[in-house]
Amino acid sequence: MSEHSSTTTGVEGKVIAITGASSGIGAAIAEHLAQRGASVVLGARREDRLAEVVARIEAAGGAALAVEVDVRHRDDLARLVASAQQHHGRLDVLVSNAGNMTISGFDELRQDDWDEMVATNLTGVLNGIGAALPVFRAQGAGHFIHMSSTSAHRIVPTQGVYAATKTAVRVLSEALRQEAGPDLRVTVVSPGMTDTEGVRSGAVDEQTASRVREVAQPPSAIARAVAYAIEQPAGVDVGEIIVRPTAQS
Ligand SMILES: NC(=O)c1ccc[n+]([C@@H]2O[C@H](COP(=O)([O-])OP(=O)(O)OC[C@H]3O[C@@H](n4cnc5c(N)ncnc54)[C@H](OP(=O)(O)O)[C@@H]3O)[C@@H](O)[C@H]2O)c1
Repeated sequence: MSEHSSTTTGVEGKVIAITGASSGIGAAIAEHLAQRGASVVLGARREDRLAEVVARIEAAGGAALAVEVDVRHRDDLARLVASAQQHHGRLDVLVSNAGNMTISGFDELRQDDWDEMVATNLTGVLNGIGAALPVFRAQGAGHFIHMSSTSAHRIVPTQGVYAATKTAVRVLSEALRQEAGPDLRVTVVSPGMTDTEGVRSGAVDEQTASRVREVAQPPSAIARAVAYAIEQPAGVDVGEIIVRPTAQS
């Protein structure tokens, strides 16, 4: 076990688990933190894509480990946290980033998509808290980082259910922060339009897709924001970071 822990300032030496690390923002966070000397534990469903991210990190000299995780299932989050403990002796940070962005207007009645967004974006974050909070309490240190969205700040048509899940993430994170006490940290990161396969895929309407192509920021912008929250001294808790492209209204 290394001497570093979440009571230490900086990114280097920390053990950081990241959900949704097989693509987009999660993969960018994993690569950035590994480059800065963190040991990253990556969770997502697509094992082949996770393996590609691990290979890129290792090729660059970093330390990474992949765990097949479906955030909708409590046991999977418990396995992710346990893997960090088994391999590194502890978990310093859990980045709950996995998300589903299958937005649509209410009249389309895509109720399966609504359920998926609630299960992934909201229950998935709760499953992370359920798995990591007892570990953080036992360690006397730990940091939750939850991925919300500018959609939680500015409500627009077709994003109702998605925005509701991301608003819920902000709300539960603030309550968690208040209950956390002096030893734990809770950070919400709210990205604006970010160029990932999630927003580029057919999951969103063509108008949104073309707007994304025009204005989106790279996922590395979010990775740097996550690193900023992590690198603060232990007694400093960055509450929320909103990072949007300058061209986003
Ligand atoms: N891109 C944007 O403009 C934007 C803006 C604001 C907020 N966000 C948020 O940023 C986060 C990352 O999104 P992204 O843009 O990077 O999209 P992305 O490239 O589609 O990445 C989504 C990630 O979540 C994972 N995931 C989805 N469902 C999962 C599940 N049930 N269990 C485990 N992992 C799951 C996916 O992995 P598998 O499919 O392999 O499981 C993938 O790694 C999301 O929470 C999203 O809401 C994105």
